[in-house]
Amino acid sequence: MSYKEERNKRTAWMMHDRFGLFIHWGLYAVPAIGEWKQSYERIPTEEYKKYFDEFDPVDYNPAEWAKAAAAAGMKYAVLTAKHHEGFCLFDSAYTDFKSTNTKCKKDLVREYVDAFRSVGLKIGLYYSLFDWHHKDYPHYGDLYHPMRDNESYKDYQYNFDNYLAYMHNQVRELLTNYGKIDLFWFDNSYGKMVGEVWKSTELVIMMRSLQPDIILNNRLEVNASSRGSIGTSNPSVFSGDFVAPEQIVPPQGICDDTGEPLPWEANCTMNNNWGYVTGTAHYKSAKVLIRKLVECVSKGGNLLVNVGPDGRGNIPEKSIKIMKRMAHWMKKYSDSLYGCGRSVFSKPEWGYYTQKGNTVYAHIFDQCIGPIPLQIPTSRIKSIHNMYDYSEVPIVRPWTTQLFPDYTFVNFGNPPQATFELADEIDTVLKIELTN
Ligand code: GLC
Repeated sequence: MSYKEERNKRTAWMMHDRFGLFIHWGLYAVPAIGEWKQSYERIPTEEYKKYFDEFDPVDYNPAEWAKAAAAAGMKYAVLTAKHHEGFCLFDSAYTDFKSTNTKCKKDLVREYVDAFRSVGLKIGLYYSLFDWHHKDYPHYGDLYHPMRDNESYKDYQYNFDNYLAYMHNQVRELLTNYGKIDLFWFDNSYGKMVGEVWKSTELVIMMRSLQPDIILNNRLEVNASSRGSIGTSNPSVFSGDFVAPEQIVPPQGICDDTGEPLPWEANCTMNNNWGYVTGTAHYKSAKVLIRKLVECVSKGGNLLVNVGPDGRGNIPEKSIKIMKRMAHWMKKYSDSLYGCGRSVFSKPEWGYYTQKGNTVYAHIFDQCIGPIPLQIPTSRIKSIHNMYDYSEVPIVRPWTTQLFPDYTFVNFGNPPQATFELADEIDTVLKIELTN
């Protein structure tokens, strides 16, 4: 099998499932101003340890998280097993800086894996390549390390090979001790810290020997600002299986150098922050998130929406509320997303098309002032149903449409040239069956 065929085979379930939950959780939930605090405020390890001593998520109940995710139509999840701060949410044999040594004494990864797997979600783990806790990670002069400009670290001796052995050992633990891991999400290469600096070839060979089907993102090689060699005719062993744009839906989806679509997954925050923050008002609504998900699918990609559980171990109530609203929509319309991708018909002005074989889904966001134009030849249409209530949607040809003979027009009522309210204010979906 060619590299491309293998990649497409590996990513088939993910590209079918389209929608996942990102979970950023760590000690940073306690100071509650996001996961970059230690770097921004240049906090030394000894001082940051206070959050380790305080960390006690008494409400942690991943079964609840899993239930909320499954209801929202998410099919997989990605939890930060270790973020940049270096704290491990799992019982690693290679560090003391782990959840089993905090007040909660739990292997948080194990409980997450068990809970999400038991509701049928696929399991993803996020692992930070850089580490602000490990003594052998570059300190002075690094781009992000809390001690990056602290002169007293100028002559600090570290052994990066030790760090690499640590990192490889932890990845091995994660892929050995928790059953099948479906997806591994590295974060991220930067500056000179890219690709083979992480001994990435060796790492990926080891990972695939333990979990042959595991899907990897492209961040061993790049960060969100580029695509990497996955898009070239000569991809590296560690180029990953999908491209991971961040906080943006790519304007045209993502293709390789020859113009062929690549697997991709956009990741986004719900409230402008990955880790938990107190008091933020900037939440994306369920309507925005659903519409962005539709946009991703229409461009052949996935959406991974983030939540940042708090120091008690709860997903913020506002996030849960948004997920519930998404659940309500997904219950009726998820068929228009799962297994769907780009349509052969070009993007309409009122929304998006998604397509699965001979079924086209028209996602109507904007109210029209009369009949709705579809750029699909009438001769190709077998049937049209409104997914809201499975009512038949008739093709109409009122005199007002005669100027536009190349379009097919539909409307929801009589008289056919009038305006009718869209059935669903988030996204009204028409299921259009094509003739062969
Ligand atoms: C950025 C952030 C990081 C977050 C990631 C998710 O790289 O620095 O904190 O985990 O985005 O894509």
